[in-house]
Amino acid sequence: MLLFDDKCAVIYGAGGAIGGAVARAFAREGAKLFLAGRTQSRLDTVAADIAAAGGLAEATALDALDASAVERHADDVARKAGGIDIALNAIGVAHVQGTPFADLSLEDYEFPITTYTRTNFITAKAVARHMAAQGSGVILTLSTPGARLPGPGYMGNCVASAAVEAMSRHLAGELGAQGIRVICIRPHAIPEAAAAGSHTQAVFKPMADRAGVTVEQMLAGAAGGTLLKRLPTLDEVANTAVFLASGYAGAMTGTVANLSCGFLVD
Ligand SMILES: NC(=O)c1ccc[n+]([C@@H]2O[C@H](COP(=O)([O-])OP(=O)(O)OC[C@H]3O[C@@H](n4cnc5c(N)ncnc54)[C@H](OP(=O)(O)O)[C@@H]3O)[C@@H](O)[C@H]2O)c1
Repeated sequence: MLLFDDKCAVIYGAGGAIGGAVARAFAREGAKLFLAGRTQSRLDTVAADIAAAGGLAEATALDALDASAVERHADDVARKAGGIDIALNAIGVAHVQGTPFADLSLEDYEFPITTYTRTNFITAKAVARHMAAQGSGVILTLSTPGARLPGPGYMGNCVASAAVEAMSRHLAGELGAQGIRVICIRPHAIPEAAAAGSHTQAVFKPMADRAGVTVEQMLAGAAGGTLLKRLPTLDEVANTAVFLASGYAGAMTGTVANLSCGFLVD
């Protein structure tokens, strides 16, 4: 008996570093995966890995900022799988970090805020209807340590991450009575993700350039600022998502899983 036997999970941004890692980990635990994201070929790579390991995955290209497309997809998933048990929004978009406030444009400030709050609203709304119908479900979101940083240079990221954490807390209140748990995962920067083509490479590069170092050197410096003197791995993020989505975390909702290796402490 596996942890997620008979469970169905939808992952938005499943072609990405975190989305792909969590999809593989959920499939390893027996979940049937519905992979959604922008680029079909990247989703197909994850689906092929899951199938090669004996799991089940269906990949669908969609824009997670398009409410109608996401609703149609969620309805289709629920019809095929008999419901939706777990959802993760792991979409990621390159945005400006490191620019001082005086030089930051309104557009660059707004972009991550509108993108992340819009997509998390759309995907949560689409899956929550189906979870409510069955009286159970888990919605996972992602933020960054920017949610709690004073800056300088993180204005858009800071507000976007804080907003996703606030949305997750509020959604937990909206949906708890229907048996739906909502938890935000807040990892520090993951070096493997940047190396694997995550949008974070494009986010970090201008900051590293400004400091006259490589992205790898900048992340090594960030590792030195954590209590554990290292940064999180994709496996750690994926396995935390497994735990949070499982019955072992059945009493947890409306909270943030802080995977900052002790960069932030409560
Ligand atoms: N990586 C880190 O170090 C880190 C740390 C803390 C938090 N996070 C958060 O975790 C999330 C995922 O990060 P990641 O490193 O896994 O990013 P990633 O590797 O760049 O993956 C993001 C995925 O989202 C997809 N996507 C972007 N816009 C989309 C849209 N409108 N509709 C559907 N799919 C869309 C991308 O599609 P394409 O395949 O077409 O590009 C990509 O596959 C982000 O929210 C990020 O802030 C990441």
